Amino acid sequence: MLLLFLSLFVSLPSNGQEKPAAAGADPEKVAEGAKLFEANCKACHAVHDVVVGPALKGITKRRQIGWIVNFVHNSQKVIASGDPYAVELYNKFGKAEMKSFPELSEDQIKNIVAYVVEEEGKGPAKKATAGEETTTTTEASNDEGGYSGIILILIIIVLVLVLVMLVVFLSVLKRYLKDKEEKLTEADQEIVNQKFDVIKVIKSKGFLSIVGIIFVALALRACWNNMLYVGVDQGYAPIQPIPFSHKLHAGQYKIDCNYCHTGVTKGKQANIPSLNICMNCHTHIKSGPRFGQDGIAKVVDAYNSNKPVKWVRVHNLPDLAYFNHAQHVQVGGIECKTCHGQIDTMEVVRQHSPLTMGWCINCHRETAVNGKDNAYYDKLMELHSKKGPLKVAEIGGLECSKCHY
Ligand code: HEC
Ligand code: HEC
Ligand code: HEC
Ligand code: HEC
Ligand code: HEC
Ligand code: HEC
Repeated sequence: MLLLFLSLFVSLPSNGQEKPAAAGADPEKVAEGAKLFEANCKACHAVHDVVVGPALKGITKRRQIGWIVNFVHNSQKVIASGDPYAVELYNKFGKAEMKSFPELSEDQIKNIVAYVVEEEGKGPAKKATAGEETTTTTEASNDEGGYSGIILILIIIVLVLVLVMLVVFLSVLKRYLKDKEEKLTEADQEIVNQKFDVIKVIKSKGFLSIVGIIFVALALRACWNNMLYVGVDQGYAPIQPIPFSHKLHAGQYKIDCNYCHTGVTKGKQANIPSLNICMNCHTHIKSGPRFGQDGIAKVVDAYNSNKPVKWVRVHNLPDLAYFNHAQHVQVGGIECKTCHGQIDTMEVVRQHSPLTMGWCINCHRETAVNGKDNAYYDKLMELHSKKGPLKVAEIGGLECSKCHY
């Protein structure tokens, strides 16, 4: 019975973190593949996301290795040959031409594919943090969740073992004492002769209530675990009405985030830019690399018809929480990527952080206040300097009323 619900519990705290083991790929080949991918393919491909070209995950299921090698060597040749799959893909990606790589050997291409397969197994969450050293507090805390589950199970197993050992020890002791019965006093004999009845113990109220409590505790924990992840939209990346690309604008053309998100340094909201800002450039720039004139025509049409674009909101805290951009970006000196990830590599914006209360609080516990050029903090920091850096938590960053209306 215990074993039954132990095994039930083992399956609970995983929160979908199990990672299927990579199918025995040679790590050296995967590493070489990773390098080649980084150098040649990364500009246009990602494993889990559509970039300029398709997401490469599942490629080994869609195509045979020979086809992949030919396509990478000279994709235009494959398309020109009339291969229906290639033609359809080419049209689907707006006739974007994939560069040819005649210099890559067949083995090298196989290694790239091995790398893709390896990454596939790791799941998309990994991908979000693979490129850069962004803060991974979220992952760390997820892991902790997993560990505390394992620790709990270990504790239970140890307790059961101790119980069994006690019972064994008791019976050995009794037998030993029985041998020397004559020498014992009457009171001692009574104790020794007491019957230890396992059935009786199991049926006793004490035992039943302990089992009951453990069971309820485990059930509560499982509910809590799942509840923590209700409403968490980490990884959410909706398709937008206009194929606006941060990778192109903020990455390739290095347009400053503030140029469009004009509120970040001034107030609570970062703001989504109005079409006026787009038209500063797009009255002149009429075609783009992925969609030719189509993509920008959408911008111009919307502008001319005076219709605001219905951008799909990606990040959204519930109304009960207050978050202010200027406080973090301007006063705190935190970079966008700490919270939003590498937006400048995203073709489509994806929610990088969980945006849970635990996430806010964790950072407030760990991050020191930015005292640079801030006379307001000078005195405080001086007083505090002996105790190490002044954390946000210590200036009230954990007070409910600071974040809740
Ligand atoms: C300049 C951008 C670009 C680069 C660089 C690039 N690709 Fe592509 N790739 C594309 C596009 C676009 C497509 C979609 C087909 C088309 O439009 O020709 C594609 C399609 C593919 C496909 C077929 C995908 C599918 O879902 O069937 C494979 C496989 C592929 N690329 C592999 C690679 C590899 C491996 C590299 C690096 C050695 C690479 N690509 C580099 C743009 C690129
Ligand atoms: C040329 C204008 C422009 C620039 C430059 C720009 N953005 Fe954006 N950003 C937009 C538009 C338009 C949207 C709404 C459409 C979308 O989500 O892709 C957006 C959306 C976002 C969102 C998601 C908003 C939501 O709905 O939750 C974030 C986060 C963001 N941008 C961050 C950044 C960061 C960080 C930079 C700098 C690296 C940056 N942006 C640079 C125009 C811009
Ligand atoms: C500072 C100048 C600038 C601003 C502001 C700007 N863009 Fe662009 N945009 C560009 C450039 C440069 C290109 C790429 C042209 C090229 O490479 O051929 C481009 C390309 C595009 C494309 C075509 C993408 C493709 O792959 O075909 C779209 C769609 C687009 N922009 C939408 C927007 C929207 C929506 C806004 C406003 C939120 C905006 N742009 C603001 C400079 C700008
Ligand atoms: C401390 C973490 C943090 C930093 C740093 C940060 N953001 Fe945000 N951002 C958020 C949160 C949380 C939201 C959701 C706010 C909400 O729903 O009220 C958000 C929302 C947004 C949005 C959606 C529209 C809005 O105003 O709510 C945009 C655009 C955005 N951020 C851009 C940026 C840019 C650009 C930077 C860098 C200059 C930046 N952010 C820095 C946490 C951060
Ligand atoms: C990446 C770290 C980080 C994250 C994530 C973060 N904060 Fe902060 N927060 C800071 C820093 C640093 C400051 C201190 C700014 C200063 O005054 O120097 C701060 C200050 C604040 C303050 C003002 C506290 C005070 O006493 O003046 C509020 C309110 C706040 N944050 C709310 C939030 C909320 C809500 C979230 C989550 C949605 C959040 N923060 C997520 C780093 C973070
Ligand atoms: C640093 C900012 C911050 C502080 C401090 C903070 N909260 Fe929150 N709290 C949040 C955010 C952000 C959310 C929304 C999280 C979500 O949607 O997952 C939230 C959500 C909640 C919720 C709703 C949970 C839900 O699932 O809807 C409650 C209740 C709550 N907080 C209570 C408190 C109490 C009580 C305190 C003081 C001990 C406190 N909070 C301190 C940021 C904060």
